Amino acid sequence: MGGIKINAEQIQTGPKTINPQGSLWQAKTNPAPLRPALQGREKTRTAVIGGGMAGILTAWLLKEAGEEALVLEAAEIGSGQTGRTTAKITSQHGLIYGRLLENKDGGGLAAAYAAANQTALAEYRRIIEGRGIQCGFRQLPAYLYTRENPEALQAEEKAARSLGLPAAFTLDTSLPFPVMGALRFDEQALFQPLDFLRALSKELRIYEHTPVIKLEDGQLTTPGGLVEAKQVVFATHYPFLNRPGYYFTRLHQERSYVLALKNGPDLGVMYYGVDADGYSFRPAGDYLLFGGENHRTGENREGGRYEGLARAASQLFPGCPVDYAWSAQDCMTPDGIPYAGRYSEDRPEWYVASGFNKWGMTGSMAAALLLRDLILGRENPWAAAFSPQAPGRLLRPQAAENLLSDGLKAVESFGRRLLPAQAAEPAELRALPQGQGIISQIQGEKLGLYRDEAGRLHAVGLTCPHLGCQLTFNPDEKSWDCPCHGSRFTYTGQLIDNPAQEGLHHEILPRRQ
Ligand code: FES
Repeated sequence: MGGIKINAEQIQTGPKTINPQGSLWQAKTNPAPLRPALQGREKTRTAVIGGGMAGILTAWLLKEAGEEALVLEAAEIGSGQTGRTTAKITSQHGLIYGRLLENKDGGGLAAAYAAANQTALAEYRRIIEGRGIQCGFRQLPAYLYTRENPEALQAEEKAARSLGLPAAFTLDTSLPFPVMGALRFDEQALFQPLDFLRALSKELRIYEHTPVIKLEDGQLTTPGGLVEAKQVVFATHYPFLNRPGYYFTRLHQERSYVLALKNGPDLGVMYYGVDADGYSFRPAGDYLLFGGENHRTGENREGGRYEGLARAASQLFPGCPVDYAWSAQDCMTPDGIPYAGRYSEDRPEWYVASGFNKWGMTGSMAAALLLRDLILGRENPWAAAFSPQAPGRLLRPQAAENLLSDGLKAVESFGRRLLPAQAAEPAELRALPQGQGIISQIQGEKLGLYRDEAGRLHAVGLTCPHLGCQLTFNPDEKSWDCPCHGSRFTYTGQLIDNPAQEGLHHEILPRRQ
């Protein structure tokens, strides 16, 4: 990488005033005692890969039903998206019920989805109350709101009520701005996700820092050992095996941002804006969590998401400092319903839970209940709705349209990799400010360059190791992100988010640059 003809494609500018850290939950939860990494051989009936909410719930529900299970976590329990969620447990998922009722099946799909979500809510309550888990579980109403389109919420109210959901349209909210309409769902809930997860984890057999590096004939190979299992559950946020299943053809990822505002008002309820520039609000003890600025992963070249959110917060809630700022990543399915069921028709002993869209807590529980039932040979009322192999999933409302859009994005990003970068002078590169990134051509190779706080220039390969799309710089996270399926890497090339399974080649360039 060492030469010196520079061509630059993108330089991000703009002041950065917020430095994201971990989430409020990560900061406020005492670290759990470390579980050992697997050394040697183990045998179990069900091996669950992934120690986030979906994986832990699946293992716990299986154990509760008397079925042996073991969890293999590549890092630490709850270290992925479960530690970054806004932790709302709700059946209210945007404008989904009206859309699902457009499906030509007499309302069966919408009814199954509503039942799955309401059951998930009730199951959280059952487990938390039954086990006496101290996790700030609180039931309260959830509202959708709009400043533009009340008719959409009125239509959603009608759809939700027809499914028996506790929905009511209103103009009365506790928001600090006027709305044109709001849709209230009663008896929804929120909690502290890591406290809950760690309480359940105590009852489970778990190996941390134990990535699965090979899976063959009921044997899961890890760096230090091997597990023999009759069944395998993939609960890894994004299913990391490309084949079978081909999940990369039907999932994309999106990012969103959250601020914890100290001494923010307790609005008493949760809110989620359905307009394109809507925000989300939820109380969390002394804090108000304020979220928004969503975008597809890999499409944040300009940056400024945290600053945009902070500007809005300072207008809406003046005098409430930002104590924590973080972001989360969600897997999005084309039809808005998670994938939970058999991983592939070719591998009936493999199961998957993924694609929770923006509703990871509710979706994780619904998926875990379903996987428990499938593994135990029980009937489940939402199995067909959630099955990744359900016939006609692509015919569901908006599914084909969203899938086409995802495919075009992937083609565009893959094609961009083949184009040379724009020209820039070496002096321009030397002037690259600290904390900013650039795409440059060096000795025929397109590289991602980043100037760190000490002035060093880090170079990484720009080809995503998943399937070869070109990465883009994300100035808010100082990461290299893939627009195709959402893999992410630090500026030193370390893998942050899957489906990629390896990091990027990384070098620090000589000082003269
Ligand atoms: Fe699939 Fe990058 S995540 S090509």
